[in-house]
Amino acid sequence: MESQIIEITASSVGQLQENPAWTAALESGKVLYFPHLGFGLSAEEQALLRPEMRDPKSRNISLDADGRLKGLAGEGAVQAAVTDWMGRFRAQSQELIARLLPGYQHKLRLAPTSLRPSEVESREQSWRADDRRLHVDAFPSRPNRGERILRVFTNIHPSGGERVWRVGEPFETVARTFLPRAKPYALWQAKALAALHVTKSLRSEYDHLMLQLHDGMKRDLDYQRNSPQQTVHFPAGSTWVCFSDQTSHAAMSGQYMMEQTLFLRAGGEYDPAASPLGILTRLTGRALVGAEAAA
Ligand code: SIN
Ligand code: FE
Repeated sequence: MESQIIEITASSVGQLQENPAWTAALESGKVLYFPHLGFGLSAEEQALLRPEMRDPKSRNISLDADGRLKGLAGEGAVQAAVTDWMGRFRAQSQELIARLLPGYQHKLRLAPTSLRPSEVESREQSWRADDRRLHVDAFPSRPNRGERILRVFTNIHPSGGERVWRVGEPFETVARTFLPRAKPYALWQAKALAALHVTKSLRSEYDHLMLQLHDGMKRDLDYQRNSPQQTVHFPAGSTWVCFSDQTSHAAMSGQYMMEQTLFLRAGGEYDPAASPLGILTRLTGRALVGAEAAA
């Protein structure tokens, strides 16, 4: 398999400019990797980095789009300090995307910023929730109808620990493998899920198929072990960007990462045909969003 990682040698966001080759690589599902682009934390902030900083009831610490901090243990002063820190990471991530991908301007919707202080390798989870298995991201409760999940990740480990990912095959290959095994979409089921508030809105056929790919990949241990893939070591002080609904990825180990999600309007890509919606529409030969809303 051709490498799915594109290395970019900038050491600050201000050095970045649009590059059509990088845009095409990102939109074909590759990972843009900035080995020298970190995120600056003060000594006081670094001193707060401990697994226990997370409220045990939350999976991550997050700053929502309205600026509300969630999931942090600790009182007022700590809450304010971490809100500021996460806001700076958000601003840096937004600037990175604005410089690299100016064509996405006005098509992005801010999603939460997260701080993940827990160790990946010691988390016990069901197969479906286990992100150590290769998968493409899909939301079971929040249908997105082709809106894209663009993510900026930075390893902020204070003493040099790396984050290790596996990155798998291009999306079209994944889709050609798992679409034939996907359960067919049923509108009545989508309606039942919405009525029961399992989903926040009606699940489109696109959302259904994305979940089928996610589950199909994670469930298949032979695929996990034997499909074409590469292991990538992201050192502390590095950043990487991908469309996580397109890039087949698995987080194998590591601790202390920040992540910013930005939602890109469906069809807002430079090349919409390269997107999961474009590829799945071509492979199935029918419209995968919209029919459910009309019904
Ligand atoms: C994931 O999105 O599957 C996990 C990413 C990470 O924790 O590194
Ligand atoms: Fe994921």
